[in-house]
This record gives sequence, structure tokens and C-alpha cells, in this order.
Amino acid sequence: MQPQPYFLIFASQMLKKIIIAIDGPAGSGKSTAAKNIAQKLGFTYLDTGAMYRAITFIALRNGIAENIPAVIEMARRIKLKLRFENGVTRVFVDDEEVTEQIRTSEVNGKVSDISRIPEVRAELVKIQKRMGEEGNIVAEGRDVTTVVFPKADLKIFLTASIDIRTKRRLKEFQDKNIPTTFEEVKANLEKRDRIDSGREISPLKKADDAIEFDNSALTPEQDYEFLHKKIDEILKDKKPS
Ligand code: DC
Repeated sequence: MQPQPYFLIFASQMLKKIIIAIDGPAGSGKSTAAKNIAQKLGFTYLDTGAMYRAITFIALRNGIAENIPAVIEMARRIKLKLRFENGVTRVFVDDEEVTEQIRTSEVNGKVSDISRIPEVRAELVKIQKRMGEEGNIVAEGRDVTTVVFPKADLKIFLTASIDIRTKRRLKEFQDKNIPTTFEEVKANLEKRDRIDSGREISPLKKADDAIEFDNSALTPEQDYEFLHKKIDEILKDKKPS
């Protein structure tokens, strides 16, 4: 990874209220890119997908995932906390840590259905916007460039081919010794792409003023370099507050 240029160090210390928003489909490398940027700049990293996953996990565990009114009631009642520590987003629901449990294939299989419930989205978007008010945040998800932070200082739409995204996700499962196959992972990604992009409320789509970037052929380091150049350009125009 490139050394941090002087300007970025200056910017991260002096500037306030910078919002960087990254959207894209599952496996497009959003999380890796957003985490790298947040760590380099000393910004808060907001993984909005983790919030939808946490609601989904609790709904499945409580046996209410098919009961929409019960899911909405639960989403309004629970206390959700995200803590970004040492490159990992730790997720807590009512002070119970659910960091690992939200990444299972059961949650993967249900999260797109839960996240198309408008009342659930409204609840989570409210929390996300509140976090954005503090500024100096890198947010990633499906609607952070369009709905949550439409006035973000930098908006990126990251994409990669379905086969590359499948390989990346498959490796994550293999690294955790979770048995699955290329076909299973690909089918889940295709299903989620279809639901996330086709839903009526806040569908995954490129904002008109977002920079679209296909990183299929790039390593995470090359990906980071491209984004880092863009951030440098944007931050140069920002005056210290
Ligand atoms: O980024 P991820 O794969 O962890 O997201 C999990 C799911 O959450 C994704 O399939 C759709 C949903 N999601 C959403 O609807 N809006 C967001 N801003 C983030 C995620």
C-alpha cells in the first residue's frame, strides 16, 4: 500500500464533516476499500450492511423473519451499536455481540428480504444519518450515495463481474472453514443483486454524480490507489472548518 501523502494527513487532522460514500453489489470490494480509507484517514467506518444483517439475524433467531410487523417492531426496539476496532466492525444488539453470527449463509439467504421492508430501512437510515452528522466518515452499502448521504463529498459506485465477486466471497467462506461451493455462493449473490437492485425502495443504483469503478481486474491495493487519488482531489478543494 502507498505511503500516506502529506496532504491526506493534513486533511484528516484539519477537515471536519467529510463524508465519503461507497455503494455497490455484494463482493465488489466496498468493505475492503472503505475500511482502508477510513483507517488511513482516521475516519469512522460505517458498514450499513452489518446493520441490515443484525436485524436479519435477530429476526431469524427469534423465529419472526416471515412476520413483517414483528420484524418492524423489533427493528424499532433493539439498540444497535457498531464499533470499528482493528479493521473489524464489531456489532452489538442490546449489548450482545453478534459480529460473527451476522455473516452466516442463513443470514445471507434472508438479508435482502428483510432489507426491503420500508420501515426497517427508515429506522436504520435514521441512525446512519445521525452518524454522518459527526462527519469524517466512510460509509458503504447499497443506498449510501443515493438516500443516506446524497450530498456526500465523494460518491463511488464500485462494481466487479459476478464471477470475480463469487470468487472473493467463496474465499472468505473458505478462510473461515465454512463449507460451500462456487455455485451456491454465485446463486446467493445473483439472488441478492436481483432483490437489492429491483426493490422499489432505495434500490441499489449508481447515483448520477457517483464515480463508477469496475475493479474486476485489480488487487485491493490497486483499488485503494485509485480511490485514494480521487479522495486527494476532492479533499484539496475543501477548506478547513
Ligand atoms: O454489504 P452486505 O453484503 O453486508 O449487505 C447485506 C445486505 O444488506 C444486502 O444484500 C442488502 C442489504 N443492504 C441494504 O439494503 N442497504 C444497505 N445500505 C446495505 C445493505
